[in-house]
Amino acid sequence: MMFNRKFPNSRLRRLRTSNNLIDLVSETTLTKHDLIQPFFIKEGLKGSEAIDSMPKISRHGLDIISSKVEQAITAGISSIAVFPVIDSNKKDQEGSEALNPNNLICSAISSLKKQFPEIIIIADVALDPYTNHGHDGVLKGNKIDNDETLKLLGEQATFLADAGADIVAPSDMMDGRIGYIRSKLDEFNHKDTIILSYAAKYHSSFYGPFRDAVGSKNQLQGASKSSYQMNIANSDEALHEVALDIEEGADIVMVKPSMPYLDIISKIKNTFKMPTFAYQVSGEYSMLQNAIDQGWLEKEVMLESLLCLKRAGADAILSYSAVELLKEFDL
Ligand code: PBG
Repeated sequence: MMFNRKFPNSRLRRLRTSNNLIDLVSETTLTKHDLIQPFFIKEGLKGSEAIDSMPKISRHGLDIISSKVEQAITAGISSIAVFPVIDSNKKDQEGSEALNPNNLICSAISSLKKQFPEIIIIADVALDPYTNHGHDGVLKGNKIDNDETLKLLGEQATFLADAGADIVAPSDMMDGRIGYIRSKLDEFNHKDTIILSYAAKYHSSFYGPFRDAVGSKNQLQGASKSSYQMNIANSDEALHEVALDIEEGADIVMVKPSMPYLDIISKIKNTFKMPTFAYQVSGEYSMLQNAIDQGWLEKEVMLESLLCLKRAGADAILSYSAVELLKEFDL
């Protein structure tokens, strides 16, 4: 495209003379339909408890989670992602509690689905909330065994679908998991269960507060997930990961973290034209929210951080700030 615009005939400020004009020519919008609210559900908890490293975010007990979800729906949320915080004495080497069809998260999903049939429930597929070493897969010696882990993930995904999850979201980064999970879901009559793949999930330091929230930080004891999560230095590799996941049956692909990875979101969207989500992860949220709470940044900064993800190419966004933004702003 050739531009031959010259001042003074061309004045770009003409379209900035009022808010109505600015909105009229706006290229991107952020609406309530783009926002997914994550929830932490804790076993044995009555009421809610604050998460120190995530301002304004709490873990909720089974007794109170429905009222929290109801408040989210009232605010305008139509999709939620649920994460379990289980009793630490149930954690073991293989994460076997993940394969208990009546575990915390399956019970929560089936009860929420009964109460709010319209809400879209996204359930993470990975073993880290369940393992005593905090890794997303099965630890054999000092290695994560890819193919052994697949078997567990396939089963975990079918239990989550049985419980009523509309979308399963593998966040583990094992090779071949999307194809394996797709075949298991189909085998157990879940042909319409959607797979949202954490396709380009980086080995990032922005997940710290989440690991506090689900209690996997203590288990990890500083161990690294670099043998399965992507090198933060790579971008071509993200395209490779996404291509494989689409080939294996992913319906939606996701990039994580989000704000430092706008180039990745943009490349993936432009290359594959697939539904592409972004996860504004715990560390990104906590940085911004803490600065807002301190009065160092205006609350609009959170809105800006999400709108820019849409501008980069994200179709929807997981953000801990979703409900609060809908209460504060008219989206
Ligand atoms: C578990 C999982 C993680 C997140 C989502 N699912 C943590 C990790 O991989 O260590 C991070 C989310 C966040 O930081 O908000 N596999």
